[in-house]
Amino acid sequence: MVVFKQMVLVFIQVIMAMPDVTSQNQLREVAAATNHFALDLHKVLSKENAGNMFCSPLSLQVALAMAAVGAADHSKTFNEMKALLRFPDDKSKMLSSYSLLSDALTNSDVMKMANRIYIDKKFKVKPEYLETTQKYFKSDAKEVDFEKNADNAGQEINGWVEQQTNNKIKGLIPEGALKPGTVMVLINAIHFKADWKYAFEARLTKKEKFYLDETRTVDVDMMNIKKEYNFFHDTQLKAKFLEMPYKGDEFSMILVLPDSKTGLPDLEKAITNQNFDLTKKIENIQNSSPVSVMVSIPKFEMESTHNLEETLKELGVEEMFSDKANFSNINSENNIKVSKVIQKAFVSVDEKGTEAAAATGIAIAVFAAPRPPPLSFEFYADHPFLCLITKKMTATNMILFSGKYTGN
Ligand SMILES: *[C@@H]1O[C@H](CO)[C@@H](O)[C@H](O)[C@H]1NC(C)=O
Repeated sequence: MVVFKQMVLVFIQVIMAMPDVTSQNQLREVAAATNHFALDLHKVLSKENAGNMFCSPLSLQVALAMAAVGAADHSKTFNEMKALLRFPDDKSKMLSSYSLLSDALTNSDVMKMANRIYIDKKFKVKPEYLETTQKYFKSDAKEVDFEKNADNAGQEINGWVEQQTNNKIKGLIPEGALKPGTVMVLINAIHFKADWKYAFEARLTKKEKFYLDETRTVDVDMMNIKKEYNFFHDTQLKAKFLEMPYKGDEFSMILVLPDSKTGLPDLEKAITNQNFDLTKKIENIQNSSPVSVMVSIPKFEMESTHNLEETLKELGVEEMFSDKANFSNINSENNIKVSKVIQKAFVSVDEKGTEAAAATGIAIAVFAAPRPPPLSFEFYADHPFLCLITKKMTATNMILFSGKYTGN
């Protein structure tokens, strides 16, 4: 694995062919919400990770939405998640949006998404909770024995995640991670694999310098290609946007390269500002006419693990972690809270295409309680840059994965 010291932000975007106008609008709304959440998350994770960083906001969003279904309506526990994930006011509309999303994402050859709920065999879940998550998230439920052997259960979960992610996400639940009292684990797993519409020629890949900062460099395998792409130089942001489509034109990677070798932190600050409309910006790129661009990007691979409890608290979601948590839609004793939120994400970019995967686990435990619980342009990415993998929706793109690549 090459050692770089630069930054990349990766947004993976999705395009969806939708049957009717209502569901189109609904999907656009959920895509815009995902994009906002993606940037909120990126901002905090980028601060926490000085080097390369990769994550899937979508995977976390879906896992949190499944947990939100279990939170009591109008409770603070629910409202905090609703604010972060920008759910529509109407809960039934939120559920149908996620159902549309899950249909659209699981129908693709390129993209696979699966949800599952692991439940301790002694834990009494309200049947309505399992029915709702099954109906709207296509989530199945599996009984395990968290009480007697949490590590065994963890290994079973890890095995399923590996299967769902083409073995790219291993050991999501580390040994000892499931605290005594764990009664449920919600899992979302995503796998994405696509070939570039225009493959890079391997013979054009050369060792070149990548700038860690103004002066320090490392060698990378720089891939080179000249083709027509959607391209846009944003003089205000002082950065170049490039959209590289995958075969089938349903998905694309959006790379954002600051003009300055040390410009990534400022660029991140600008695009994660609340007033910045990335969804609009992406639409502008897509509406630009393709121009011939000489593209050079390093071949790269990265993996990140995120323990997200503190991250989510910083983003305003707190009550679900406390003994005030109100998950009365999950069990009638209402004595459970979220004990752990963990995500692992992986991406590999080479001459042929991209493979990306992520899995998010949300562990739920009982309270510590008595019971056990034509112009020619150049896009020369030899310094920190941002990159997004997205799926195109009707009118916009939705970020599936987001990260930054700092080369190390
Ligand atoms: C949970 O929320 C529901 C609905 O808001 C409320 O009726 C109930 O009293 C809450 N329970 C606790 C323990 O806070």
